[in-house]
Formats: sequence, structure tokens, C-alpha cells
Amino acid sequence: MTELPDPEAGPGQVVVRVCAVCVHPADVAATTGEIPRGPVPPPFSPGWDIAGEVASVGPDTAEFRVGDRVVGMIPWYLTRGAPGGYAEFVAAEAEWLVPLPDGLDFASAATVPLNAQTAHQGLSLVSLAMLPAGSSMLVTGASGGVGGFAAQLAVQGGYRVLAQASHGDEQWVQEIGAHEVVSRSADLAAVGPVAAVFDAVPIGEEAAAAVEDRGVVVTTRPTPAIVPARGVRQELQLIRLDRKVLADLVSQVAAGRLRTRVAATMPLTEAADAHRQVLAGGLRGKIVLTVG
Ligand SMILES: NC(=O)c1ccc[n+]([C@@H]2O[C@H](COP(=O)([O-])OP(=O)(O)OC[C@H]3O[C@@H](n4cnc5c(N)ncnc54)[C@H](OP(=O)(O)O)[C@@H]3O)[C@@H](O)[C@H]2O)c1
Repeated sequence: MTELPDPEAGPGQVVVRVCAVCVHPADVAATTGEIPRGPVPPPFSPGWDIAGEVASVGPDTAEFRVGDRVVGMIPWYLTRGAPGGYAEFVAAEAEWLVPLPDGLDFASAATVPLNAQTAHQGLSLVSLAMLPAGSSMLVTGASGGVGGFAAQLAVQGGYRVLAQASHGDEQWVQEIGAHEVVSRSADLAAVGPVAAVFDAVPIGEEAAAAVEDRGVVVTTRPTPAIVPARGVRQELQLIRLDRKVLADLVSQVAAGRLRTRVAATMPLTEAADAHRQVLAGGLRGKIVLTVG
């Protein structure tokens, strides 16, 4: 923990008093250097998804006022930790933020931006294949953040969803609307053939084995290429901030149309322990660090 001067809001920015910041595998990856474009030299602040209140407003920032509740995504792929969300105050571009509806608490809100947008954008890649309505889709890691949103959005999109649950999480995966729950220990090749695989974990070859010839596989990290002879379309989903979509996803969570889970909240000062828990796996939802 380091004491830094409070940031100031520049043009187009607000300073957010952070109440909650989600812990993601990407934060852990930042500390081990396993991220696109290579390791970031310390010091940097991890943290993509923040929820809090506007503490001050910079020049030319018309849409937020002091005291507004906000949630948003720091595009860490651009900021590389300057700023990051593990902080009491963050100077954020207004365009990273959307209003946080009443009734959605800070911790739950902080679990939404990165994972729900990744799910939404990954499904957009699937839709490029123009699959017929009702096509089947296997979603791996549907107990987790990205996979949970992907399964729910795929059901909304009219797919027949086979969702892989972690051990003991079958009921949750059923509750979020999966048409079929696939056990963590199931042979995925035997689950298919499905028209599409959203490999949220990603598992790679074993998950891709479930897709039919000329089907679609979307992964959330680079995985080995699928045998070209099968004609499978293979896509790597990499997050980009889409504020309009984010606002819609946040309002769907607030309205109860999309569900999310907080496994535990921990004080920001326990971030290192939170990272160890994420690395250990087996969580039922996201760990969220709270401030103040
Ligand atoms: N490309 C992008 O834009 C982007 C954006 C966000 C996230 N990601 C990546 O997407 C992945 C998922 O992120 P997340 O936030 O959803 O993580 P998460 O919340 O930890 O969920 C991952 C889920 O997958 C399960 N899982 C882990 N290993 C598995 C395996 N071998 N077989 C089956 N299930 C397994 C986990 O269960 P247990 O914990 O019980 O093992 C957990 O339920 C991460 O690799 C992350 O880095 C990429």
C-alpha cells in the first residue's frame, strides 16, 4: 500500500471515489506479466472495474455531477495501470463511466463491465457466422464471470445453451437459464456437436472438439489453432470499451434480467490475499475489494 497525492480531474474527466473494485484474472496476470504487449514495469495499479461516487468534475465534463453514483471500466489495455482501479480515488475519463442505477450495490456493479462486455462482444463474433435461430452453443466456465454472462446473453439471443458448471455450481448455472448443464468432469467432445463454442475459460482443444465442422469457436485468450480441415471459424475475443453496451448491460443487471455473483468482499488492503484466492480458483462469483 502506498500513499499518493489525490488525483485531479482534467478536461473530460471526473475523479471517482472508489467504493468497490473487482478482482479479475487480468489483474493477477498483470502482476505476473502474462498480458498482451508484455509485462508492465512496476509501480502500477491493477484494476479494471470500479464503482463509486463522483468526487470532483473536471473542465468540459458536463454529464456527471459531484455525488453521482457511477460504474465503469478503466481500459487497462491502454492505461497499463496509470491509472488502475486499486485506489481510493481515480481520475477517470467520463467516457469510461456510466450512471449506476439505484438499487444496484457498488460491489455487484463492479463485477459487470469487463466480464459482461467481453461476453457481449464474444457473442457478436459468433453472430458473424449467421447461425440459424435456435443453434446450439456450448459455454465453458459458465460458473465464472465471462461464462456466466455469455450463457445468459446467449439464451437471450435465442441460442440453445449448454453451459459448463464448476463442481457444486450446477444449480446456479441452471438458474441463469442454461438449457442444459454440463458437468465440469464431462468429456466435452461427447457433448457436441454444437454449432458454436464460447470458450470462456478458455480450455482450448478439448472444448473446440465439441464444435461441428464449419462451426464457430470464440476464446478469451489465445489458444492453439483448430485443425483447418474442419473449416471451423476460430475467433479471439479481446475487450474494447463500448459505453453504450455497458450502460445497457448495467441496467439489465439492475433490473434483474442479468445476474451476477459476489463471492466475497475484502478490504482493498487485502488485495494480495484476494489475488491468491483468485489463483486458487473454486470461487462462487467474483471477489470485490471495498474501500472506505
Ligand atoms: N479477452 C478478453 O477480452 C477477456 C476479458 C475478460 C476475461 N478474459 C479471460 O477470460 C477468462 C475467464 O475470466 P473470468 O473473469 O470469467 O474468470 P472466473 O470468474 O475466474 O471464471 C472462470 C471459470 O472457469 C472455471 N474453470 C477454470 N479452469 C477450468 C477448466 N480447466 N475447465 C473448466 N472450467 C474451468 C472456473 O472454475 P473454478 O474456479 O472452480 O476452477 C471458473 O468458474 C480468463 O482467462 C480471463 O483472463 C479475457
